[in-house]
Amino acid sequence: MLSYRHAFHAGNHADVLKHLVLMLCLQYMNKKDKPYTVIDTHAGAGLYALDSKQAKLTGEYINGIGRLWGRTDLPPALADFMAILHTLNQGRALHHYPGSPWLIDHIARPIDRIRLCELHPTDFALLRRQFKNQDRRVMVDQADGFEVLKAALPPPSRRALVLIDPSYEIRSDYMKVVAAIKDGLKRFATGTFLVWHPFLPTLDANQLPEKLKKAGAAHWLHATLNVCAPATQGHGMHGSGMFVINPPWTLAAALEASLPYIIQALALDERATWHIDQLEQKNSAQA
Ligand SMILES: C[S@@+](CC[C@H](N)C(=O)[O-])C[C@H]1O[C@@H](n2cnc3c(N)ncnc32)[C@H](O)[C@@H]1O
Repeated sequence: MLSYRHAFHAGNHADVLKHLVLMLCLQYMNKKDKPYTVIDTHAGAGLYALDSKQAKLTGEYINGIGRLWGRTDLPPALADFMAILHTLNQGRALHHYPGSPWLIDHIARPIDRIRLCELHPTDFALLRRQFKNQDRRVMVDQADGFEVLKAALPPPSRRALVLIDPSYEIRSDYMKVVAAIKDGLKRFATGTFLVWHPFLPTLDANQLPEKLKKAGAAHWLHATLNVCAPATQGHGMHGSGMFVINPPWTLAAALEASLPYIIQALALDERATWHIDQLEQKNSAQA
């Protein structure tokens, strides 16, 4: 039984990192005319109201996107992201925050195809309602994203971006993410794969980045943002990372210009840090 609802967390520091990286990768995909497919294996509800009772209960967005909203000195990639948020909020105050499906739909072109998977019945219903008028371009499945991915790769378009963004509320998600990447690379070595992961005081969470680095990709980038020191007790998330396989060559520079700014704005204590790590072996490929 799934209990996680992204509405409680929309717009927090982890979403800012995740969605900035997602935007940059999609913008790069748009530079070539050839159509591509986006597969969002863990889509959530698609779009979030920041005045909902869930968002108000945690207030997580206040220390996330709330600290960046209204700033006028943003680095270029963040300014692009903020412009998208202004479009979503129709130039008014910050009321809505995009989920990955809204962002993908907004940036991908009419020729591209989008596949969204969500298992939670309530969030699936919200997601389906959001895309009810887009039968051909956007496919919305109430299905296990890990299973859908196996069948969907390689895509007919031979160009694809895969976002794997579980809540990790089920411990087996850690193992499934690594298996999905290994299998995905076998089926479609040139795909761009994005994995979001949390920094939590647990062994599974700490080991995941190393497992992803050893999954067999010849070219990857790992960007992390820690907003405070790890909790000594409890399960608080002190940061998160985005692991990108076959990243755009422009991604590292864009993040190097953005992450120092973000960490300065979002830091909760003096232990806040950002980091970018990458591997680029000869003969790696990108569609
Ligand atoms: C972190 S949230 C997704 C947030 C979303 N990607 C975004 O950026 O806006 C994870 C979602 O995955 C859903 N979920 C959990 N296990 C799943 C699975 N095996 N397949 C598809 N969805 C799943 C949860 O119900 C939850 O809505």
